[in-house]
Amino acid sequence: MSSLITVEDMWKIYSMGDTEVQALRGISFSVEQGEFMSIMGPSGSGKSTCMNMIGCLDTPTKGNVIINGRNTLDMSEKELAHLRNETIGFVFQQYHLLANMTVLENVMLPLRYQGLDIEQRKERAIEVLERMGLQDRLSHRPNELSGGQKQRVAIARATASRPKIILADEPTGALDSATGRSVLELFHEINEKEGTTIILVTHDSGIGTSCPRCIHILDGQINADIRKSAEEAKLEENRNIEKKAKEENKKAEAEKSMADIKEGAQC
Ligand SMILES: Nc1ncnc2c1ncn2[C@@H]1O[C@H](COP(=O)(O)OP(=O)(O)OP(=O)(O)O)[C@@H](O)[C@H]1O
Ligand SMILES: [Mg+2]
Repeated sequence: MSSLITVEDMWKIYSMGDTEVQALRGISFSVEQGEFMSIMGPSGSGKSTCMNMIGCLDTPTKGNVIINGRNTLDMSEKELAHLRNETIGFVFQQYHLLANMTVLENVMLPLRYQGLDIEQRKERAIEVLERMGLQDRLSHRPNELSGGQKQRVAIARATASRPKIILADEPTGALDSATGRSVLELFHEINEKEGTTIILVTHDSGIGTSCPRCIHILDGQINADIRKSAEEAKLEENRNIEKKAKEENKKAEAEKSMADIKEGAQC
């Protein structure tokens, strides 16, 4: 059986006048249905470029991206649009919610392309928003929500069409660590309950290393592809949570001592 996603010798070269940027330099990997994977690497290493190619938002300069057994490079614009709407859900760091629409309307919007009537779209959107704990925010607009709530709306929007694949580029990048962890938990739940394949880009090694698989990209090439069992990943996640909590406690103590010193100086 073929893999859900196969990336073969993928290159992306951006031409900027006389100069060339080799954002990806021959990346190859496969992802199976139901995998939970992170992509890590320094800024500028090519993570977003890689995600954009997998999500068919852009085309590689060279190489192949095969999704569901079909080479996306051979597909027409119409077929690609269909693949993006039916098979892939996107989540971004900056949420990309439509400001003039309510939470419910934002989640209903992509369902328009699924041939559902308005009542069915509403029902489906409410169901996923309830799962994200947002049932009492349906008529709010994005600017009336916290960062964590906005990201949960974005995840609801990405999952409402029941895609096989979720691509999340720095989904916790704009969130504090506790909110980031709860967003990560949601991804784990979606992966476990629905069998959705999840690929997330993160700078946070605590999040990246707690995924069962982690690909490291450096200068447009894969320099590590690390897999661990679900149990090991869970243990790693708990260790990371403990480590973060300790760091946060230390920081709070240091801030308190500083405040005490300042108060003492004023007496
Ligand atoms: N549209 C573009 N035109 C020209 N160069 C680009 C374009 N998009 C990305 N690049 C370049 O390609 C390289 C990889 O960029 P990419 O956005 O994939 O990095 P990244 O790993 O996602 O970084 P970050 O962690 O900062 O988001 C960078 O050197 C970047 O400057
Ligand atoms: Mg990026």
